[in-house]
This record gives sequence, structure tokens and C-alpha cells, in this order.
Amino acid sequence: MSLQADIAKVRGDFDQRLQAVQAGKESVEQLRIAFLGRKGAVAALFSSMGAIPANDRRAAGQALNELKSNLTAEIDAIATVDDKGGTSSQQEHDMTLEGDYIRSGSLHPITIVEDRIRKIFARLGFSIHYGPEVETEFYNFEALNFQPDHPARDMQDTFYISDNLLLRTHTSNNQIHAMQEMRPPVRILMPGRVFRNEAINARSHCLFHQIEGLVVDRNISMAELKGTLTHFAKELYGQDTVTRFRPSYFPFTEPSAEMDIYWGLDTEADYRITKGTGWLEILGCGMVHPNVLEAVDIDPEEWTGYAFGMGLERMAMLKWGIEDIRHFFEGDLRFLRQFGA
Ligand code: DAH
Repeated sequence: MSLQADIAKVRGDFDQRLQAVQAGKESVEQLRIAFLGRKGAVAALFSSMGAIPANDRRAAGQALNELKSNLTAEIDAIATVDDKGGTSSQQEHDMTLEGDYIRSGSLHPITIVEDRIRKIFARLGFSIHYGPEVETEFYNFEALNFQPDHPARDMQDTFYISDNLLLRTHTSNNQIHAMQEMRPPVRILMPGRVFRNEAINARSHCLFHQIEGLVVDRNISMAELKGTLTHFAKELYGQDTVTRFRPSYFPFTEPSAEMDIYWGLDTEADYRITKGTGWLEILGCGMVHPNVLEAVDIDPEEWTGYAFGMGLERMAMLKWGIEDIRHFFEGDLRFLRQFGA
């Protein structure tokens, strides 16, 4: 048989088996081994070259090389679309490539703090109550026993929308809504955004978050307020947290107090944030003023209550040592990603 005939036969066999591969009956790798392997059909033809007369050898070599490169190209072409073989070195999916990194989102630090506080009070039987951010003077001030000439009512401190409409300056407005809607007994937690007409800098912002608490029932005493808030502080800051209550003033509570926790004076930062005292104020509180109960038609002779309020940005800043309140509102991912799980 001439070399030409041998090449044609190999070519014919190859076409047949290529069809078998395309039909999924055989793998690309099997085809490659049968024709291009060390003991394959093409190698066998090369080794028969010795029998060819020296004059014809050059042409024969060229014909065999052409056959080899054609078969190689055809096998490569089919290998890139076929991955059934599983052993091909040129599969469509390169398992050695590094995977895509999918970044999951994370909770905002204010949400993290809010969730923790909610959970502590949920275990004490508090439910959540929301109120409006756009408010009237009655709910934000008057019903809370702010006198008409109270400085907080000044345009400099409060964002007024019209004569009577304003952006609430605290979540205490919601105490009034809640008592009107629910009637006692009331045991609620009221998270929300509040607004104050303040210059924006590292320490203060015109927008921030508060959580307000309110309990109204029969025989509610200052002792229950102290017990509840001390428990809260230990849950949030650790069981060995030391608290103290200092007399204070808020129009809507009487008596009023502020709760401090002992922060310590270990570092220079501790001196700065506790103003050298070691104590840190974390919330305002007090017994609901009789005038407030009367403003919502609750008889102060029959019902008593306590209330408290705290700022979330301040708590988050203490928890994570954040120095600038503006970070919470700027949506900078370099800041926010630090709070991921
Ligand atoms: N509303 C007060 C503020 O914004 C915080 C506060 C103090 C709320 C005492 C209370 C409270 O309910 O009893 O500064």
C-alpha cells in the first residue's frame, strides 16, 4: 500500500471516530490517544517512513506532518466545546481559576446597636412602637410639659416646616402618641430618627437616632426604673458594669435623672471621653410627669410610669471607638464594611 492510501485510511478512520465523539459515545481524550498518542495511528505512519525510498521521504514527511497538524487542530477544536470527557486538558471550565469573590452586605453600625438594645428590652416584655418624624408642637413639646418659652422651641434648635409643623427633636413625641393609642398598661420601646438644627461637625449632627422607653402601669416606682435600667446596662456593657443615677432635669419627668456607667480611666482616650471623671452618661430618664399623663387623659392618681431616652450614635461611637459622627451618614463603604460579620 502506498503512503497516500495509508494517510487516506487514517483520515477516514479519524472522521468516523470523530463522529462517535460528537455523539458522546467516546471521549476526546480517547480519540487523541488513538491517533496522536505515542502508539497511535499517526506515530505508526511515521515509523513506517524507513521503508520509503530516500527520494520520496521529504514529500512523505510533509504529508504526515500535515496530517498530524490537521488532526491536532480538529481535536483541539472539539475539546474546547466538549467537557464530557472530563480528562481533557482544554475543558471549557478551568477548575484552577480563582473563584469570583461575592461580597455580602452588612448591617449598619447603628442598626447593630439598635438590635442589641431591642433584644434586651424584648426579654423584659417591651414591644416596639413607631411614631411620626414630622410632628406638631403639641406632641413634640406641649404635651411633654415644655413651657412656651422653653429654649428648645427656638427656631435655632428646631427645624420648623411651618408655624406648627416641625421635625421631631426627640423620640419622646412618641410617648404621647402611644399613650393616646394604647391606654395603660404601656410597656414600649420607640426607636427612631430625630432632627436638630445644629452645625455639623465631628461631635454633632443635624440627624441622629434615639431609642425611647415608656412604662405606664399601676404602682410603677422609681425603684423599678433603676432596677430595669441597671439590668439593661449590665446586659449591654457586661455584668460587672457599675452604674449610678444623677439628678437631672427634663420637663416631661419628675424626678428626672441621668444614668452613668463607670467607664474607667485606663487610657488617654478614657480621660477625654469621660472628661477626667471615669463616668460616662448613657441615658436620660425619670418618672413620667403628672402633667404629661393629664395631657393624654390618664389619671396620675391611678397610673404612674417611667420613661428613658438614649442616643444611638453616641453608643456606637463608644462601642467601636469611632471619633467622628459624620461617618454614620456618609455611606462610605470603607467605613461600613468594617462592621460585616
Ligand atoms: N428626650 C430627651 C432628649 O432628647 C431624652 C430623654 C430624657 C428621654 C429623659 C426620656 C427621658 O424619656 O425620660 O434629650
